[in-house]
Amino acid sequence: MIKSTVFKNDLDTPCLVLDIELFEQNLHTMRDHAMSAGKKLRPHAKTHKCSEMTRRQLKSGNCAGICVAKVSEAWVLAQSGIKDILITSPVTTVKKIEKMFDCATLCDSLIVVVDNFNHVDFLNAEAARRKNILKVLVDIDPEMGRTGVDFANALELGKYITGQSNLKLKGIQCYAGQVQHISGFEERRDTSLRLMRHAAKVFNQFKESGLGCDIFTGTGTGTFDIDCEIPEMTDLQVGSYCVMDSEYFQLGSRDNPNRFEAFQPALTILSSVISVNQDNFVTIDAGLKAIYYTPEAPPLTINPPSQQGWRYDWFGDEFGRINIPAGQTKPALGAIIELCASHCDPTINLFDSIYVVRKNEVIDCWAIDLRGRCQ
Ligand SMILES: Cc1ncc(COP(=O)(O)O)c(C=O)c1O
Repeated sequence: MIKSTVFKNDLDTPCLVLDIELFEQNLHTMRDHAMSAGKKLRPHAKTHKCSEMTRRQLKSGNCAGICVAKVSEAWVLAQSGIKDILITSPVTTVKKIEKMFDCATLCDSLIVVVDNFNHVDFLNAEAARRKNILKVLVDIDPEMGRTGVDFANALELGKYITGQSNLKLKGIQCYAGQVQHISGFEERRDTSLRLMRHAAKVFNQFKESGLGCDIFTGTGTGTFDIDCEIPEMTDLQVGSYCVMDSEYFQLGSRDNPNRFEAFQPALTILSSVISVNQDNFVTIDAGLKAIYYTPEAPPLTINPPSQQGWRYDWFGDEFGRINIPAGQTKPALGAIIELCASHCDPTINLFDSIYVVRKNEVIDCWAIDLRGRCQ
């Protein structure tokens, strides 16, 4: 806890900042949306890698649990008292499986996805050896090819799982990562609904075949208000919505073809101007080690506002550059520039902690305690 009053612009740079009011607004918007659609949330902690943010997401309500991408993330969350965890990537190595079972002992419910028959055998044998029952979801490939069993073979895999002594089938996961950033809303909607309807069909087949499963989880921030049109989907495993980034802001949305407006930029990076010797730009101290950059959606300046036309460019590991339109006054040496990252997940993963501010006053500092947990 920060003792004496510290303001945002007193912080040393580069650093991560969370606007608590915008963060809470994002949580409430997503919670209310999911509730009105009759869905639960299963927020993805891969975005923020922070157990305090996880706790606040759960406290905000209407959650079926929390998602992680990796066993090592699950381990930190389980140790911090989070009880319902879904691991959204297959867990295949001996060391990780070991850790996953350790993790399960700390949880009320630990679920992991599977996408392969041999792997089902392996997990079942490991669960039997430990006299445990492991809960699993069939991971369905939404025609992306990254992980998952294809639509045509999903039912067979589901049946195979129910034939195992020490596995308990809970349902399906179908997360279409390739769809989330399709820029046009209509194209994104059509693509996502086609894929999710296919997954829903499989889910219905599971039920009709008596496989007794009750979870159909999927969706990201880009399709949060699209996939809820699928009646069978039970929960939304959204991640970026809580802090947001410029890759999302530049997408079209239901009401605006040029901007994704439902959620606010709660996460920013503060940087300082460290060199002003050029005419049309200044150099700042936030390069690749402080902010994740994609040229298609460069970091936005939040302060000064992006409407002023200042543009971030990558300038090396340690440096960024802020291009200043002709006729505008350059910021002074030492001036603070506040940025919204291209992509939130890999940016947050660069820092040990995040400063929490309310109306520019620093009120707390939270550990990014899942940071670097990529095993
Ligand atoms: C499996 C899975 N589910 C959910 C999400 C959350 O997506 P988003 O950050 O777009 O909300 C991700 C993000 O990469 C993911 O990999």
